[in-house]
Amino acid sequence: MLLKGVVSAWLLLEAAIAAPTRQSPLVLEKQKSPYNLDHYDPYDRKFDSYGEHVQPLPMRNGKGTDMLGPRNRDRERQNPDMLRPPTTDHGTMKNMHWSFADSHIRIEEGGWTRQTTVRELPSSVELAAVNMRLDEGVIRELHWHKEAEWAYVLKGSVRITALDTEGGSFIDDLEEGDLWYFPSGHPHSLQGLSPNGTEFLLIFDDGNFSEDSTFLLTDWLHHTPLSVVAENFRLPPEVFKELPEEEKYIFQGSLPGPIDKEKPAAFKKSKLQFTHKMLAQKPKEASGGKVRITDSTNFPISKTVAAAHLDIGPGALREMHWHPNADEWSYVIRGRARVTIFAAEGNARTFDFMPGDVGIVPRNMGHFIENLSDDEPLEMLEIFRADKFLDFSLFQWMGETPKRLVLDHLFATDPKSGAKFAKAIEDAEKDVIKEHYSIDDDSYEDEL
Ligand SMILES: *[C@@H]1O[C@H](CO)[C@@H](O)[C@H](O)[C@H]1NC(C)=O
Ligand SMILES: *[C@@H]1O[C@H](CO)[C@@H](O)[C@H](O)[C@H]1NC(C)=O
Ligand SMILES: *[C@@H]1O[C@H](CO)[C@@H](O)[C@H](O)[C@H]1NC(C)=O
Repeated sequence: MLLKGVVSAWLLLEAAIAAPTRQSPLVLEKQKSPYNLDHYDPYDRKFDSYGEHVQPLPMRNGKGTDMLGPRNRDRERQNPDMLRPPTTDHGTMKNMHWSFADSHIRIEEGGWTRQTTVRELPSSVELAAVNMRLDEGVIRELHWHKEAEWAYVLKGSVRITALDTEGGSFIDDLEEGDLWYFPSGHPHSLQGLSPNGTEFLLIFDDGNFSEDSTFLLTDWLHHTPLSVVAENFRLPPEVFKELPEEEKYIFQGSLPGPIDKEKPAAFKKSKLQFTHKMLAQKPKEASGGKVRITDSTNFPISKTVAAAHLDIGPGALREMHWHPNADEWSYVIRGRARVTIFAAEGNARTFDFMPGDVGIVPRNMGHFIENLSDDEPLEMLEIFRADKFLDFSLFQWMGETPKRLVLDHLFATDPKSGAKFAKAIEDAEKDVIKEHYSIDDDSYEDEL
């Protein structure tokens, strides 16, 4: 009943604005709820049901009907394109969406960790991720693992330590927007700094990674005969009688001092740079946003992980593109997004994303990212198991292909529109994020 009320309120509102005065397209878009049988939209526009507090219904262009059974309304609002997919979606596609909100969380002293791996999201084959929080002074124990580790600091500040294969050592403090990279097997530690510690996103270059199966200092010593530990460190065995009896993993530590005061006598500075300031990079300006790319060209140690940080502005579109060298593993930091993945053979499926959500786009599959939210910028990471960030732009491809060839493909029966298209792609500049363009200016009223 309540829902019907909402729907008819929308209809009334629509009737009220159907007056002759022309509304700005964004306003018009805001006022139209697509969830009723009278709503026709030949263009499959995005609709932010979460931001607009509108409950989606499976109704599209006169088809479908309401829902009678049990529903998870919160999830439906978060994924409006599941309940009412664009008409262009088709076929079966594996799930490409996961939310960290659905990951089991491991709670430890002063911190927590949760992971998204191939076990949570079967299409996450190339990369696995961990979201971790360490409060002030809290330590992620000295450890190493088979997989290389790449990280992006989401909030707060963190001290890292690492050792390289030549005995060189590394210590650094990082803040929001900074990265680190530890190659496979390199031992390291992490510690939250004042005042409130840190939270970060870790990426491992194997979807099968498990945060619970790393090589920990305390675990190793506890499973080595004390006689050997004693011999190794040239000390009597009694010295080790109070070693921890189980792994410490995440635990409250003492607060670190300034880096220079912390360096031990044996410290030899590593020739490698394990950290990088990604957000401090000068962005590449696109017409609708900003892009920062970090890969082995500007962060040489990061041989197996490449990434792009995207700020997608008002109504803007991360253009139609694909990546030839790796699956995309994306993570939303702020805002909401609509993504359609094109998988060849006529298959396409649309997914929506909230902050803390993870998406996969398999290598070479065409896709775009739309800013879906009305009130927040869209900020996200695209991450790849690759040494370089590579993408192909549909726009650029069209512009750099002989015009005759392109028009023969797309406009053989409509040369007038072909001429408009040829003009639009003339300069062929790749524009990674395209500024808002209102399709409604030209055609909205014709369609009504
Ligand atoms: C992950 O590991 C399991 C068990 O070893 C194996 O069966 C599976 O094929 C692996 N998956 C990937 C994506 O490597
Ligand atoms: C640290 O946390 C406290 C308590 O939540 C908060 O009031 C304060 O603003 C935080 N400080 C910073 C620098 O984030
Ligand atoms: C995202 O796009 C919507 C239009 O779809 C726009 O109204 C909103 O301002 C955008 N968010 C921001 C501020 O980037």
